[in-house]
Amino acid sequence: MYRKFNTYTEMSEYAAKLVIEQVNNNSQSVLGLATGSTPLGLYQKLIEENRNGKVDFSKVSSINLDEYCGLEKTHSQSYRNFMNNNLFDHINIDIRKTNVPNGLAEDIDEECKRYDKVIEDFGGADIQILGIGLDGHIGFNEPCEEFKKGTSYIKLDESTIEANARFFDNDISKVPTHAITMGIGGIMSAKKIIIMASGDKKRDIFEKARIGKITPQVQASILQFHKDVVWLFAEKN
Ligand code: F6R
Repeated sequence: MYRKFNTYTEMSEYAAKLVIEQVNNNSQSVLGLATGSTPLGLYQKLIEENRNGKVDFSKVSSINLDEYCGLEKTHSQSYRNFMNNNLFDHINIDIRKTNVPNGLAEDIDEECKRYDKVIEDFGGADIQILGIGLDGHIGFNEPCEEFKKGTSYIKLDESTIEANARFFDNDISKVPTHAITMGIGGIMSAKKIIIMASGDKKRDIFEKARIGKITPQVQASILQFHKDVVWLFAEKN
């Protein structure tokens, strides 16, 4: 399904409606979550509706897409902290049921295996939320020669480092160079996927992913093979 909105707020409200329906239909839902600026409006709406008693997250579990490697646990931009600050600390989710890869694991290969087992044990997410990078990445699956199945340790592309510098005082040297990301297999194992983007900068890559050639050079294009993807685009940021 494809829907276009005028504003980012309208898109976020629509995405929140889908997530809330999912949780209200199954209180033990598994939510696949993303960081970055795109889902912030959605998270804000979920917080609001949780406060209004319209949705209960107490039995929900979550699996996040990715985590930077090498950032201290307390660093404000680690994705664990991002999720706590922007969602988990403000809703009634059980924090023990929230999963984010451990970017500080001593044995990164083991951590990737462990994370794949977490995803597999859940049978994949019930709904996976995705943003899209300017280079077409989902999670941190950057353009390359293949679609990687499992969770992996990756080097961030220069364009991704530049795009994310806004979260690190606009200082490229402060952006981590590596991350752990859920693989394309893990993402595709979700029963439903909501991919969102907004504004002129994202228009072309969003359309390439949605209706262009399916190629690992645009990792999000693989979603065309998934049977239940909701493509949401807002004209204005
Ligand atoms: C975040 C993630 C990334 C972002 C993408 C878009 O967990 O996996 O793929 O969704 O980089 O980022 P924003 O939304 O900041 O434009």
